[in-house]
Amino acid sequence: MTAPHLLDLARALLRKNDAGPFTKPGPRQYPHQWNWDSALIALGLSHFDLPRALIEIRSLLSGQWKDGMLPHIVYHDAPSDYFPNPAFWQIENSPNASVFPTSGITQPPLLTTIVRRLHARHSIPNFIGKVYPSLLRWHRWLHTARDADNSRLACIIHPWESGTDDSPRWLEVMESIRLQEVPEFRRGDTLHVPAAERPHQVDYERFICLIDIFRRANYDPTALLARSPFLVQDVLFNSILHRADEDLRALAEEFGQPTGEIDSWMNDLRANFNRQLWDDSHGLYFDYDQRGGASIMINTAATFLPLFGGLASPEQAKRLVEEHLQNPLEYAPNENAHYWLTTTSQSEPAWEARRYWRGPVWIILNWLVIEGLRRYNYTDLADLIQRDSLELLARSGFREYYDPRDGLGCGSIDFSWSAALAFEFQEGV
Ligand code: DGY
Repeated sequence: MTAPHLLDLARALLRKNDAGPFTKPGPRQYPHQWNWDSALIALGLSHFDLPRALIEIRSLLSGQWKDGMLPHIVYHDAPSDYFPNPAFWQIENSPNASVFPTSGITQPPLLTTIVRRLHARHSIPNFIGKVYPSLLRWHRWLHTARDADNSRLACIIHPWESGTDDSPRWLEVMESIRLQEVPEFRRGDTLHVPAAERPHQVDYERFICLIDIFRRANYDPTALLARSPFLVQDVLFNSILHRADEDLRALAEEFGQPTGEIDSWMNDLRANFNRQLWDDSHGLYFDYDQRGGASIMINTAATFLPLFGGLASPEQAKRLVEEHLQNPLEYAPNENAHYWLTTTSQSEPAWEARRYWRGPVWIILNWLVIEGLRRYNYTDLADLIQRDSLELLARSGFREYYDPRDGLGCGSIDFSWSAALAFEFQEGV
């Protein structure tokens, strides 16, 4: 398939998934507005319909909570068979909640980086003036309401907040959670996607038990920091946050806004990130389990995100790339896995080629790693992964994730961010 044709298909898909104020990440599997999906969808839309891209962002921000939290799902008015539905979250018991139906947790803060990119490409000062205060409030919330140890690192309280829901790096922490009574629920995620490609039932029950704990605490941020059994400083989340802080700061400077507060978040986060999350003996970044007081020593592609965030030194970057990313026993293509980039190192016992975040190729991870490699001047490798990603999209269509062994598309069909990122791979550099 030629590249222009691929972009025609990508445009048609984003149009097809357009639900008015927002774009569905996947037509049946994800029929509402997801936070980081929406940021990438806006980036994709901006290649052919900038006004619609800006609507996408304003709609997402319409779900912002009074305390600044930007939820991981905004439901708008779209009835569906998706679970958890708004009634399950019970956000109305929180004094901070949005007036719109939303979930009660957040997701990786990619939005500011995308907003700045749109401004750099299209010059949208009026739009920036309108959204800047909301972005600042979200960043402030992340650096305070989610700061468990005064480090300015944000903690996540649920695997869904990592965006990499059933990554093997959450297994041990999740297993340590004593399952109280599991609330009654019926999974919706296996209605449209085979169960073998979705999280195991036991993991799903723990996801739901965590939500039950949060809703019982009325989503009070202080109570959640004190009580959530899942409390993790995530490498991926904080790398994206640091990059977003950089972008927020650049906007602040351009628009004559104060930068001191953002500078102090960035300085503290950078120092604490490398002190707490870098493991020199392995040459890898590992997440930190705040509740258990220990590093989570599982090797996943999240370890490359400090390249995207600009948090690694050149020496750290060299180790990540040469010892791990290019290692066929871990991430590089080999006789078993033919496509860049498995989301979990193949050396991990929990690696699975087709199950959600246990190992398949995800286009978003490829894009984040490509961006990070370009930042550190690993241009040839970035080009290689980019070509490989385009080949996968052309061969198997816009799917949620791909089996790295044969490129087979898995998970949701017609997946919006895979279409959106085709534009970045083809036109964005
Ligand atoms: C799901 O339903 O699997 C989502 O990833 C939660 O955000």
